Amino acid sequence: MSFPADFLWGAATAAYQIEGAVDEDGRGPSIWDTFSHAPGNILHGDTGDIACDHYHRLEEDLDLMASLGLRAYRFSVAWPRIQPEGSGPANQKGLDFYLRLVEGLLERNIAPMLTLYHWDLPQALEDWGGWTNRETSERFADYAAHVHGALADSVGAWITLNEPWVSAWLGHAYGIHAPGHKDAAEALAATHHLLLGHGLALEAMRSGGDNRLGVTLNLSPVRPASADPADAEAARRVDGNANRLYLDPLFRGAYPEDMLQHYRAVSDLRFVREGDLEKISAPLDFLGVNYYMRHTVRDEAGGGASKFPTAMRFADLGAETVLPEGVETTAMGWPIEPDGLTELLVRLDEEYTKLPIYITENGAAFHDYADPEGGVDDEERVAYLDAHFRAAHAAIERGVNLRGYFVWSLLDNFEWAEGYSKRFGIIYVDYPTQRRTPKASARWYREVIRRNGLRDGD
Ligand code: FCB
Repeated sequence: MSFPADFLWGAATAAYQIEGAVDEDGRGPSIWDTFSHAPGNILHGDTGDIACDHYHRLEEDLDLMASLGLRAYRFSVAWPRIQPEGSGPANQKGLDFYLRLVEGLLERNIAPMLTLYHWDLPQALEDWGGWTNRETSERFADYAAHVHGALADSVGAWITLNEPWVSAWLGHAYGIHAPGHKDAAEALAATHHLLLGHGLALEAMRSGGDNRLGVTLNLSPVRPASADPADAEAARRVDGNANRLYLDPLFRGAYPEDMLQHYRAVSDLRFVREGDLEKISAPLDFLGVNYYMRHTVRDEAGGGASKFPTAMRFADLGAETVLPEGVETTAMGWPIEPDGLTELLVRLDEEYTKLPIYITENGAAFHDYADPEGGVDDEERVAYLDAHFRAAHAAIERGVNLRGYFVWSLLDNFEWAEGYSKRFGIIYVDYPTQRRTPKASARWYREVIRRNGLRDGD
């Protein structure tokens, strides 16, 4: 099973999850420093203060990437390293770190893919309302211009936002991520200002070279849990919130009508101003897709105990997701449904865009065990990736313009609210010593990349 000749096999990380060095070289505090240091927010009280200490172990980590034969690496820039207070001139020492990273990648023939915002908003901007304040969209475009000005010559692929749904809803409606608020109206304002920030950043970067510019969304196919029409309605609402609330403004220049109606109950939506949607729907060069799961949805008002454990509650939608019978889960409790990836990619191709698509994240946490020699035989992760690569291949065969695949993650790292308890890496990190050990999945992935495909019957 071969992939297209120039298929971009990569791995992904994000700044706060791996860098550590939170107060070095002029870095300012971000909402994740504040949030992780407040008691009760993160499992075991973990923080990203040290994380994988990647900031100090850059060369070693670059060599590891090269040893896997990676063709691309997706990383994010920490906004508070570039603008410690979220505005004003760029901090050269902050830029220098990413210049060294990019130079190290290019020396090793690894294509850099840069994400501008993977959730670490400067705390100074949060103090003025963060993403609920329209000003933040403009600050984001300034920041984008600084980073682009310094790195446009060496970085070909740029992603404005990572998963705006997660920033908006886990951060502002469900209180699970920074800044930890619980207000659906705030999540809606944040959604709009994130998307507007994306549009303004595109505008700021378009004039500065011929880089490819895109955005990364976390998307999930949605299906009703039963034939009950109430469940079908609930599935429509979840699809509206999780997928269409982002895809429609970006690709059609309008918010979905059913969602506008639904949310009029909590917000007058006055933050949507004339001209905003034109900026938000400015042409892209590619779409980044993070795929982790399908949502199987039931109506929450349906009454009666669910036969299946509830995986996730969309409180503001009167809906919840359930685990379909017989489906296995990862250590996160997420259902493993590789065919959902094919379904999602085909839908994007049919309903939204023919642009190049990259899977910018896919992977899984499992309960990895390091044996006394330090080896990690993570056969579940190999099986997970194998099945998802095949699902991606099936989408390519059905005509989807899929150009690359980034495994989440290169390294075990700080998994947000779950702290260090969940390991997603293909490289094991022993946190007390910071020793890195490639897992069996890393060796397997190296072979996939070398062959540019999978062997049938593997
Ligand atoms: C995604 C995030 C990424 C990582 C994975 C498991 O939502 O973008 O940082 O935490 O989930």
